[in-house]
Amino acid sequence: MRKDVRILLVGEPKVGKTSLIMSLVSEEFPDLVPYRAEEITIPADVTPERVPTHIVDYSEAEQTDEQLFQEISKANVICIVYSVNNKKSIEKVTSHWIPLITENTDKDSRVPLILVGNKSDLVEHSSMETVLPIMNQYSEIETCVECSAKNLKNISELFYYAQKAVLHPTGPLYCPEKKD
Ligand code: GTP
Ligand code: MG
Repeated sequence: MRKDVRILLVGEPKVGKTSLIMSLVSEEFPDLVPYRAEEITIPADVTPERVPTHIVDYSEAEQTDEQLFQEISKANVICIVYSVNNKKSIEKVTSHWIPLITENTDKDSRVPLILVGNKSDLVEHSSMETVLPIMNQYSEIETCVECSAKNLKNISELFYYAQKAVLHPTGPLYCPEKKD
């Protein structure tokens, strides 16, 4: 059985990565957050899958590219966070984040990705229409979820999906070369 799960949150500045982590931990929306949350460890007995879980924040303002690459290579699952009211932050998922993650992870070990659309409290319409084609294009993406750090909507679900993606992946663990 797996020892622990390491969840990394990445995404454009200000999409709400730190707020999501703080909302999960304190069960309320923090008005003020630092750029980067301290790494937190959730003990096995309070996680849905009974596995110690580390949650790791990223902030461009406080970390170098080198530190980011290292965190990417250490992660068991990566949440790419965008803001549902910010188109640019969605575009960057495919133009920046997925290629960067691919470059910094071992080709043989599939690191599941979760697309996280935060700030759902700010819009009426779902971003799923925009995100579904991305999901279909990249088999690494395990699932997507819309949430709000502010309304505490889908926050615990998000971290549960991340944990589950590592412990019970639905996709192939490796892609053997096609034989003829
Ligand atoms: P960097 O650390 O700079 O990369 O940003 P970040 O992704 O950690 O975002 P952060 O948590 O600092 O939030 C950025 C701003 O968005 C803050 O003003 C938050 O209060 C706000 N915010 C975060 N989540 C939500 C949300 O779910 N709804 C709304 N309305 N605002 C949010
Ligand atoms: Mg932050």
